[in-house]
Amino acid sequence: MNVLVTGGAGYIGSHTCLRLLESGYGVVVIDNLCNSKVESLRRVEKLTGKSVKFYEGDVRDEALLRKIFAENALGCVIHFAGLKAVGESVAKPWEYYDNNLNTTLVLTKVMRDVGMKNIIFSSSATVYTADNTMPLRETSRTGGCTNPYGWTKFMTEQILSGLAHADSSWSVCLLRYFNPIGAHESGEIGEDPKGIPNNLMPYITQVAIGKRDHLSVYGNDYDTPDGTGVRDYIHVMDLAEGHVAAVKYTTEHSGCEVFNLGTGTGYSVLDIVNAFQKANDLVLKYEIVGRRPGDIATCYADPAKSEAVLGWKATRSLEDMCRDSWHWQSKNPRGYED
Ligand code: NAD
Ligand code: UFG
Repeated sequence: MNVLVTGGAGYIGSHTCLRLLESGYGVVVIDNLCNSKVESLRRVEKLTGKSVKFYEGDVRDEALLRKIFAENALGCVIHFAGLKAVGESVAKPWEYYDNNLNTTLVLTKVMRDVGMKNIIFSSSATVYTADNTMPLRETSRTGGCTNPYGWTKFMTEQILSGLAHADSSWSVCLLRYFNPIGAHESGEIGEDPKGIPNNLMPYITQVAIGKRDHLSVYGNDYDTPDGTGVRDYIHVMDLAEGHVAAVKYTTEHSGCEVFNLGTGTGYSVLDIVNAFQKANDLVLKYEIVGRRPGDIATCYADPAKSEAVLGWKATRSLEDMCRDSWHWQSKNPRGYED
């Protein structure tokens, strides 16, 4: 079966393409390369010895989507394409609503027209309200987002679940990711952020490689064991395998299901700093600074439903995540430009 992967050249998309190919699926990618390079897919091809059919273009381009569906026998779509920087979404709300909502609307319109209605969507733990008790379950409260990015994830969940509610021939899987880090063990593919990284792990690896002077730890006065923020970090290859499990599930069921993709364990910023130093035998310079606006103290998943229903469970350790993140960065100091 062939899977259409939107945004497949990106960080999570490229790792998922690799696992899909290794699991025997054909992979077709559409990506406009606004936050990625096609080199990621070339490396996926090299690692797997299999080819990816690549279309460079925008998911909002309806004519291109119709052409892709006409030229390929597709059995499922994984919809990664989207803009993802929380801070940028506050500064450019229109661009975020346009890109993240219209990609979904155009994509599902074409899917409905051709009668292929199996879709997996990249949602986020950000859809949960800040006042939930931990761990977060799929039934925990959602909404009350604090930025346009979060709202686009919330609204896309509404759009897709509404389609499944109205027409039982849709099969929708909403995957809520926690904090993906790490890279493929080969060090050939990984996260390659443009400009100054917003997220913790790429910032750490850039400090370690000497590209940034030190890490700013945003606050040590949270109500957590060491005062720094706690998150559920998940290895990107575990996440990729979660998507392969979701493809099987989506193509064998109908309706709409929501799944947390996390490990169920929370680590603090200082836990990550210490684990990174230990796993890679190096010293990281860091400084405690004030809290980052919008951050919450603690966020981690209850992944029990994913294990029970999808038969998927994260297996890689924090040490694996730290080692693989550094392996990728040290092998590719300038990302895919090297
Ligand atoms: P990424 O930026 O590396 O990948 C997204 C890809 O989509 C990029 O290759 C980009 O070029 C492409 N793209 C964006 N808009 C497009 C459009 N209109 N048409 C075609 N291609 C387009 O990001 P990622 O970390 O791999 O995230 C993938 C998805 O997972 C995103 O939807 C993101 O919001 C979601 N997500 C990510 C995280 C995270 O921490 N990385 C957490 C939760 C959810
Ligand atoms: N942090 C620092 N210094 C940094 C960067 C981050 O101390 O330079 C801290 C943050 O304050 C937070 C933790 O590291 O406590 C993790 O921060 P990230 O920015 O890596 O991740 P977030 O949990 O803030 O957000 C991520 C994605 C969002 C997504 C959310 C939930 O960036 O898009 O996970 O899935 F919505």
